[in-house]
Amino acid sequence: MSDTEHYDPSVITFLGALWGKGYLSPGGPEEVGRIVEGLDLTGKTVVDIGSGAGGVALTLVQEQGAGRVIGLDVERDVCETARRLVAEAGLEDRIEIRQVAPGPLPLEDGSVDLVFSKDSIVHIADKEALAADAFRVLKNGGWFAASDWMISHDSTPSQEMAYYIECEGLDFAMASPERYRKALEGAGFRSVALTNRNPWYRDQAQAELDRLTGPERVQFEEQLGADAVAEQIKTWIAMVPVVRSGEHCPHHFRGQKP
Ligand SMILES: C[S@@+](CC[C@H](N)C(=O)[O-])C[C@H]1O[C@@H](n2cnc3c(N)ncnc32)[C@H](O)[C@@H]1O
Repeated sequence: MSDTEHYDPSVITFLGALWGKGYLSPGGPEEVGRIVEGLDLTGKTVVDIGSGAGGVALTLVQEQGAGRVIGLDVERDVCETARRLVAEAGLEDRIEIRQVAPGPLPLEDGSVDLVFSKDSIVHIADKEALAADAFRVLKNGGWFAASDWMISHDSTPSQEMAYYIECEGLDFAMASPERYRKALEGAGFRSVALTNRNPWYRDQAQAELDRLTGPERVQFEEQLGADAVAEQIKTWIAMVPVVRSGEHCPHHFRGQKP
């Protein structure tokens, strides 16, 4: 694992046990379904930005009917895990996982029907450049539909929020829903809509903490080691209050290229 890698194999296994096989974010296939609700993916070409351990790409094909998914991620271990899961599912002809350098999407202009992302853009600081690039690679009429972890404002984070972000240690570049809206509209997207998922994640985050500290703790410790689980619990204890206050506010967002 290089210095720039944050999701090593034990973290991938831990998060998979917490959130579902191949998932590095909460909510699983149901949450993916909500992000793309009302969009017909049948036979469509999708790019999944920050495809992680591949669970999302599998869901897009197996449950949402996507014809082809190109999963892009910057980290080696997650890409290797994703390729393994794709091979196990026999879907190598429909899901391609590419390890890429951060920066512009390595895709032709107007080449995809849907730009998708689940909880990964939090790692990308320049939301405006990303929105413009998503617009560039979409066909006319295509959608950018995603979820992300956001902060309710663009001022200095509260002390509690700053402490939580420090505990994550994941190079988060959190921004407000308003900044995402402006980035999407500024890039040319129409029908821009954002949905606050804080009310859902508020209960979910507490339930996750209860799992980590309850009878399942021993199993998590077997996968990650006792010290690492204690570190994760510290992060969750820091997260629950900022989710409860609403400062940490995961959102879904979407916009259409005219
Ligand atoms: C919280 S995980 C989510 C992974 C996956 N979307 C999921 O929901 O399971 C964030 C992912 O974003 C990836 N990532 C970080 N910076 C990125 C970048 N500049 N471009 C693409 N992916 C990136 C990380 O390597 C990680 O796999």
